[in-house]
Amino acid sequence: MESYEKLLENNKAWAAEMVSKDPQFFTRLVDVQHPEFLWIGCSDSRVPANEITGTLPGQIFVHRNIANMVVNTDVNMLSVLEYAVNVLKVKHVIVCGHYGCGGVKAAMGNQSIGIIDTWLRNIKVVYRLHQGELNPMASADARFDRLVELNVIEQVRNLSKTAIIQKAWAQRGGPHLHGWAYRLSDGVVKPLAELSAGAEMDPIDRYDNLS
Ligand code: CO
Repeated sequence: MESYEKLLENNKAWAAEMVSKDPQFFTRLVDVQHPEFLWIGCSDSRVPANEITGTLPGQIFVHRNIANMVVNTDVNMLSVLEYAVNVLKVKHVIVCGHYGCGGVKAAMGNQSIGIIDTWLRNIKVVYRLHQGELNPMASADARFDRLVELNVIEQVRNLSKTAIIQKAWAQRGGPHLHGWAYRLSDGVVKPLAELSAGAEMDPIDRYDNLS
């Protein structure tokens, strides 16, 4: 059997198992979704949103890209964010990075690797913002781990800078923003940052006409 055929076999078995445990499981989800969470994570195959959070289909709206970035010109991310916040009315937006992230590692290096350079440049900006903390660190591994964390925290800040989030905060007091880092070596998530409506932000990033 080809490897992709195995996936289809697995799918049949999984669907049958879900129905045997809960006959209404799929029929309940056919017409509507009410996820409480938007997940913005890395595309890395080792960090699947549902598995590591013990959640089922219907519970998390997901956007993934290389290095879990919130880039203010990314129409894909902004479309997902707007739909999740304004239509699905999610209560929580989670940016989840991970230690050992190849995107962050590449951004710390000096090799051009193609069009992805443009994407990773956003992480180099995070490095520059925090070079006072990062450069003195003795070990390259510690610096790598810390840049993973700082990158997550900056992406949470980037969410708070969007008119989408600021308008929702003004109108309904949510969603709550979270920054997490997942450790590949033991599967555990470390919470790093939280921002909610009314959070302090740089005045230059605040819009005053969105209520
Ligand atoms: Co990654």
